Parts: sequence; structure tokens; C-alpha cells
Amino acid sequence: SVDHESMKNVQMIELGRYRIKPWYFSPYPKELVQFPCIYICEYCLAYKRSKVCLQRHLQKCLLPHPPGNEIYRKDNISFFEIDGQMNKQYSENLCLLAKLFLDHKLTYYDTQPFLFYILTVHDHAGYHIVGYFSKGKESTEGYNLACILTLPSYQKQGYGKLLIEFSYELSKIEGKTGSPEKPLSDLGMLSYKSYWEETILEAIRSIMEEPNPQLSIDQICTMTAITRQDVICTMRNLELIFYYKNQNVIILNEQIIERLDVMKKNNRIRIDPSAIRWTPRK
Ligand code: COA
Ligand code: NA
Repeated sequence: SVDHESMKNVQMIELGRYRIKPWYFSPYPKELVQFPCIYICEYCLAYKRSKVCLQRHLQKCLLPHPPGNEIYRKDNISFFEIDGQMNKQYSENLCLLAKLFLDHKLTYYDTQPFLFYILTVHDHAGYHIVGYFSKGKESTEGYNLACILTLPSYQKQGYGKLLIEFSYELSKIEGKTGSPEKPLSDLGMLSYKSYWEETILEAIRSIMEEPNPQLSIDQICTMTAITRQDVICTMRNLELIFYYKNQNVIILNEQIIERLDVMKKNNRIRIDPSAIRWTPRK
């Protein structure tokens, strides 16, 4: 029933060096949920009922990173691409973990239609999972992201926007614009709004620096891979666009460029597109 579904069942998880209190229900096995803490392998995401079990597992778990292809590496940041069909076990383990922090329904077992992009930070011990996003292998609606998560131990450090940026970089390589699947959670919406504002302002600035600037909505879409609808909506919010005589008219103002300078001061981590090793599937 709905009541049961919404009841938080897991008291605590241990993942790498972090202990994390779950936010929501996740369908981990009943036998496991009765223990005070679930111990999760940070590499393959297998779940165990005790530290001893996990340590025994870690001696056999050869991967110090997620399975799949490493499609991005720059400094200590890597992305791995995982096919929900080819790496079914990992994908299911990932969805179980993610559900602990996601309010709405998620398909835990039908991972086959999705690709998963895992963000890791690397140190001497291995590649530690920070978060991920999923993407439908075929999206007729033009979605470039289905679900996004930054693990709570890493939240509010810019990783959410890094994941979003990566999803748009993949869309650029595909030569398409994209948008996240709706509905987004409040935190998801907040992150997207912030990403769109920053990215669109950056695009406007770079267009305006050209010798003969041709500023248009289409030009911004091409540069950012953000859909026309999301560009227009963001620019309306920024009061950069007005609907006049059946047309969207762009009007720039001084404050907007200042606003971008303020944004850039908090210097978040960025994707270096030249470090992506990826080609779209046929
Ligand atoms: N309160 C207020 N603002 C917050 C916030 C919070 N708890 N968490 C993030 N933000 C803001 C940040 O300030 C930042 O805006 P800014 O750059 O303009 O200052 C923006 O949101 C993104 O922050 P960032 O650090 O890049 O994101 P994150 O790593 O914390 O991840 C989510 C954002 C949405 C991925 C993360 O909150 C999450 O995993 N939530 C649970 C799962 C979820 O709801 N997913 C979306 C639905 S599929
Ligand atoms: Na999708």
C-alpha cells in the first residue's frame, strides 16, 4: 500500500567512509532492513548486514571503481557509463541506493532501458561514488536526464550542477537539445534553475564578445544544448526577454553581466569537454 511504501525502513547505511541517514523508503530485502545499519560496498554497491560481511566481500571485490567504461577523466573526477542491461546487478543496486534519497517512484528492477552515468572522485584507495544521473536509451520526448542524485555526504558542493553540465555536454555531442524528465524534486528544480541561469548568461556574454554579435534564442540553444522552452523560461525569469508583437524580444541590461560575475566568483568545478571520450550509440 501507499502508506507502507512511504514508510522509511532503513535506519542507516554505511558507504565508504560515510554513515548516512536515509530520507525515504527503499525496497531492500526485509531480512536486511531489521539490522541497525546496511553496509554497502562503495564500488559494486552490494549490500551486507554487517561490517564483517562487507570486509569479507571487499577482499573478493576486485573493482576499485564502478563497472562500465570510464568516459571522462580530469583531475580527480571521472564518469563511468553503465548499461542497465549489461550491468543489471550494479544498476539494480544503484537504484536501491538512490531510492533512499528519492521521494517519488522509481523503477528498481527494470533498469534495462537506461544508461547510468556515475560520478566518482578518485584518491589513492580508488574511485568513490559521489552521485549519478540516468538517461533513457531512447527518449522520444527529448529528455537527456531521467533521474539525478548527489549522495548527501557530497551535496551542496557543486556536484549536482557538474552532473547536469555533463548531461548537456553529452547532448551537445549528440547534436541535440535536451531537458530533464518531469516532475523534478524541489532540490532538483533549484539546481536546474541555477544551472540554466548561469549557463545562459555565460552564452550571452560569449556571444556579445564576438565581433558582430548575433544574439538569438536559437544561438543560445545551439551553444548550450538547453531546449528552446527552457531558454525562454529562464530568460523571462531574468527579465531578459519580453513578448512584443507576437515575438520574443531580447533586452540586455548592465546588471545581468554583473550578476554573472558574482556567480563566477563561487568557482564551482566544471566539465572540460575535451576530456570526454564518448560517442553516441547508433
Ligand atoms: N538548500 C538550498 N539550496 C540548495 C540545497 C539545499 N539543501 N541543495 C542545493 N542547493 C542549491 C545550491 O546552492 C546550488 O545553487 P547555486 O549554485 O546557485 O548556489 C544548486 O542548488 C545546486 O547545488 P549543487 O551543490 O550543485 O547540487 P547538489 O550536489 O547538492 O545536488 C541534487 C543537487 C538535486 C542532485 C541533490 O539535492 C539530490 O540528490 N537530491 C535528492 C535527489 C533528488 O531530489 N533528485 C532530483 C529529482 S530526480
Ligand atoms: Na531520459
